[in-house]
Amino acid sequence: MSFEGKVVVVTGASRGIGREIALAFARKGATVACVATSEAGASGSVQAIEAEAGKAKAYACDVSDSTAVDALFNRIQADLGTPAVLVNNAGINRDTLLMRMKDDDWDRVIDVNLKGSFNCIRAVTRGMMKARYGRIVNISSVVGQTGAAGQANYAASKAGLFGLTMSVAKELGSRGITCNAVAPGFIETDMTETLPAEMRESVIKTAPAGRLGLPGDIAPAVVFLASEEAGYITGQTLTVDGGLTL
Ligand code: NAI
Repeated sequence: MSFEGKVVVVTGASRGIGREIALAFARKGATVACVATSEAGASGSVQAIEAEAGKAKAYACDVSDSTAVDALFNRIQADLGTPAVLVNNAGINRDTLLMRMKDDDWDRVIDVNLKGSFNCIRAVTRGMMKARYGRIVNISSVVGQTGAAGQANYAASKAGLFGLTMSVAKELGSRGITCNAVAPGFIETDMTETLPAEMRESVIKTAPAGRLGLPGDIAPAVVFLASEEAGYITGQTLTVDGGLTL
């Protein structure tokens, strides 16, 4: 599974799961466009990749801003060439009970997680269609499959990604483009750092794997779905949760 000569775009690549995904592609020979909200964050991942003699370039962009996303993909095209792979990993949560959820909590989470993925897919597909090749992987969540109290906005955004994934798969399949989703369970990152200790304990007790997940558990699933070899898999969700939702 080589990505030599391929341009891979990873959003939310400054830390956590996104950084691990970016590193995994670089280790397979890809040139990785690391996208994050801040230039400094994205540059940190580029330095980590370059320290391993990999190839990467940093880009700052808010994926919820469609004009900025169009400009981002024009820059990537000019700097690196046509992307073969897009990984929509950028995501946020603003957890609170429904009755306390502000309009802005709802809008922002949907805008980043769901519309951000749509913005990037729309911007990347012109080049992929011309090349008659593309791999798109959307990072959803098991919460999009099960729902979660206190996460109505987040769960809705992640469930929405399944509909987006299947539609893109149907619309672009004849052009050599696949679109799949990965649904991680509980992964140890900055996003989950603040969750209560009881929740962590409960995951460890419930999941057959008997532990929390790590960013390194997610990256190989993404790399596989983005490989040439996975060309007959499209519109699917690969759950990577240590069996938590069984
Ligand atoms: P994180 O909070 O550590 O990293 C999020 C990344 O997204 C950062 O690089 C940040 O700069 C970027 N980002 C946030 N808003 C952005 C925006 N508007 N534009 C561009 N980039 C933006 O999160 P983590 O845990 O690494 O999560 C990565 C993805 O995996 C997210 O989509 C998250 O929803 C999903 N996920 C995480 C799980 C977990 O347990 N940590 C479980 C299931 C899904």
